Amino acid sequence: MRRLYPFAASLLNQQVRTLNRATAPGFDAIFLLGDTLDPADQRSLAWLRELIKASRIPIYPIIGNHEAYGSISNEQFHLALGLPAHGNYIARVGGLPFLMLATPGQDSLVPGSRAYRWLAATLKEMQGEASVFCCAHYSLLLHPCVHGSRNDGMQVLSSADAVLDLLGSHPNVRAWIAGHKNIPSKVITRGILHLLSPQLIQAPCGFRELRVSPHSIQSCIHPLADKKLARLSRDAYGAAYSARHGDPADRDFTWSWH
Ligand SMILES: [Fe+2]
Repeated sequence: MRRLYPFAASLLNQQVRTLNRATAPGFDAIFLLGDTLDPADQRSLAWLRELIKASRIPIYPIIGNHEAYGSISNEQFHLALGLPAHGNYIARVGGLPFLMLATPGQDSLVPGSRAYRWLAATLKEMQGEASVFCCAHYSLLLHPCVHGSRNDGMQVLSSADAVLDLLGSHPNVRAWIAGHKNIPSKVITRGILHLLSPQLIQAPCGFRELRVSPHSIQSCIHPLADKKLARLSRDAYGAAYSARHGDPADRDFTWSWH
């Protein structure tokens, strides 16, 4: 068993409680970059809604492909969590804007679609901001960890080139922070930092802390708080598990743009 769907809820619950402890280092926000529920149904969605409600630290979710596999429509998922029906919204953290983008499938954000138009219009509105950050479930690039035989063809948005061109026309866009593939990875191209971050359902190896300022991003990967689940995750991959941790230079680094 290489996937930990039955344990994802327990893992997230424990991790959120740990981060919420008064003694924990201060976090301003928790981002869930999709594949939090597999699949989303009425029961799991109610559980996630309560988790978000009970957290002292604001939690900002976006939809992933696994949420979309269930009986709940994308609109129902978003509305249940208090998001706009289309799922795209702006999260302000420490005054900085994070564009939270709904990408439940690789066909999301196709030019001309409502989501693409929302992104284009929002980037235009944000032209006066020093820095803008985008979060989505899917990536715009094939990261090195999924090159060659490890590329299952399900890693990148089909509209990636068009979205990259759109981002390229807004020099204040600093990062595209994706989930989906749970290997910590980074690629910097055309002045934008592209990240993959650990998620819960497939051999989770930790979570990524980002310290973001208008001029820099500092990244640090933390191990799972739950030692039993950490061991289960490691055992699921055996000797290959170390590859799930990513390159050390992609885990802990500082990147600045001025
Ligand atoms: Fe995914």
